[in-house]
Amino acid sequence: MLAISQYREAIIDYLHEKIRVKEPVNLYEPMVYILEQGGKRLRPVLVLMATEIFDCNYKKALDAALAIEIFHNFSLVHDDIMDDAPIRRGMETVHEKWDINTGILSGDAMLINAYQLFESYEGDTFKELSKLFTKTAIQVCEGQQYDIDFETRDNVGIEDYLLMIEYKTAVLVGASLQMGAIVAQTSQECKEAIYQYGRLLGIAFQLQDDYLDAFGDPETFGKQPGGDIIENKKTFLYIKTLELAGRSEAQQLEHLYSISPIENSGKIEAVKSLFETCGAAELTRKEIENYTDMAFKILDKIQLPEEKKEPLRKFGEMLMERQV
Ligand code: IPE
Ligand code: IPE
Ligand code: MG
Ligand code: MG
Ligand code: MG
Repeated sequence: MLAISQYREAIIDYLHEKIRVKEPVNLYEPMVYILEQGGKRLRPVLVLMATEIFDCNYKKALDAALAIEIFHNFSLVHDDIMDDAPIRRGMETVHEKWDINTGILSGDAMLINAYQLFESYEGDTFKELSKLFTKTAIQVCEGQQYDIDFETRDNVGIEDYLLMIEYKTAVLVGASLQMGAIVAQTSQECKEAIYQYGRLLGIAFQLQDDYLDAFGDPETFGKQPGGDIIENKKTFLYIKTLELAGRSEAQQLEHLYSISPIENSGKIEAVKSLFETCGAAELTRKEIENYTDMAFKILDKIQLPEEKKEPLRKFGEMLMERQV
């Protein structure tokens, strides 16, 4: 096994080798721009780690790992259009730097590029990887649609929210790990268990993303502070605050979520203060821990030597502590 930083370097080297600007530059420049911006590279690292955990050389999984990273970045380009987000990774979003049409088409080309990378696999491996990718990609679209629908829907409950984040975020984390297991041709049982590990970690990951969107350090988080509040996103923080708040605080929150921050520049601070005083901020932290613990319980049961599981556990712990 290599260190996480070494898997990250391997994927970045491979990215440089495979993705370059060519004609028409207006299609490929935004693609290179977002892919070179960095980001944590969590998903491709998971693909490579899982491949090695199941006793296969990570190099065999580079195409699958790059496909996952390109798909992830495609989803971000379109997500930033849908969320009207000006900043990502501390830089202008693609549709701000170019325009919306460029974001749409470059995103489309990235999605197709991702699919293309699976062509290097053969037989059952190709079939399994493609099937998993297709299933996951359509779930991500479904999750994204729920996310948008919820902005203007009133009665969004915790169960609705959890399903939404499972689809928009967690299934891709599960699929990343399962792709490594598929490339390594491990047992069906291990393929399923590693997927579940990733799915639960992915739910914790999105809860953390929502938490950081409100309470993260704007200097390091790299996105517009309070972006979810501006867009009236029905996050765990919001739904729990409505559940826990008294009548007048609940009305206050609902009112704040009905106004545009341009009309009232105090919206973000007022909403954050309600999230905190009602205890929802604290509860979100607890829920992140709960989902991470559930993931670790799945990991405990996987038929693997303890030293193979250790890097995955470390990865989960690292995610829980992240500020970016
Ligand atoms: C952002 O994912 C989108 C979510 C699913 C929350 P990451 O936080 O992994 O984004 P980068 O690639 O590291 O920037
Ligand atoms: C994004 O969720 C999920 C996908 C891109 C599929 P968010 O909208 O919370 O992600 P960020 O916060 O913009 O990175
Ligand atoms: Mg977004
Ligand atoms: Mg979004
Ligand atoms: Mg977010």
